[in-house]
Amino acid sequence: MISLGKKSPSGKPWVMLTAYDALMAKEVEKGGADLILVGDSLGKAILGYEGVEEVTLSDMAHHCKAVVRGRKSIPVIGDLPVNSYEDKPMALASSKKLIEQGVDYVKCEGYIPEIIDHLVQNDIPLIAHLGHTPQKADPTGKVVSANRLQSAKILLEQCLEIEKSGACAIVLEMVSREVAKTITERLSIPTIGIGSGPDTDGQVLVITDMWGESDVNFKFLRKFGDIANEKCIAVKKYCDAVRSSEYPSDEHAFHIKKSEKDIWEGGE
Ligand code: KIV
Repeated sequence: MISLGKKSPSGKPWVMLTAYDALMAKEVEKGGADLILVGDSLGKAILGYEGVEEVTLSDMAHHCKAVVRGRKSIPVIGDLPVNSYEDKPMALASSKKLIEQGVDYVKCEGYIPEIIDHLVQNDIPLIAHLGHTPQKADPTGKVVSANRLQSAKILLEQCLEIEKSGACAIVLEMVSREVAKTITERLSIPTIGIGSGPDTDGQVLVITDMWGESDVNFKFLRKFGDIANEKCIAVKKYCDAVRSSEYPSDEHAFHIKKSEKDIWEGGE
């Protein structure tokens, strides 16, 4: 079992980003992140699906493999998609399929202690995901978790139990700041937050949201770039250059052998 410390190797909070193909993996690793998550956010972010419920295990395997091909040494986590871990044998077979693609960890959503126990006992390096869990969520939107005493206590107990099971880390999504902080202090495995405030051991964002390529606008999201606009500008410049015959020019062309040019152009 690979273990993750409370701090990243740099001694700083863990920085995790999603990536879905080899190119993105290279960019995320070059940019200095600590961990890559091939999330099932793949469906909406890249595949044009309506939501995570359409993502299949083969989709995940295909994209996990591409990410693994693109990374040098950054650890990669593969998400188990919906309906791929309904019972213990299915969860183990699905996890093994992702591990066969080269991922270092498998992530699953929800408080499912029996499944988590089974995976850990079968040597699957497991990352849990609690709080808001998109696979089981109300499709109308993200809802804050553990913002009342009773749900906060339940979430804390669940996290402690998952730690006991041997999970390597817990992603906490949309958990109230105070509760995410307490959970982080009480656990010896790292918590990686998304929309759970600044006190978790690390942070994760969906890369297409973070670099301004999606149209979502969550309260917790900061857009660190405007990649979609950059890409559109490049496409527009290319269209204009081709339409105005400015590109390609002779500097981009290959030529027939000089000594045979006249013969060729003379039509013989
Ligand atoms: O699928 C995903 O990208 C995720 C992150 C939002 C944590 O699970």
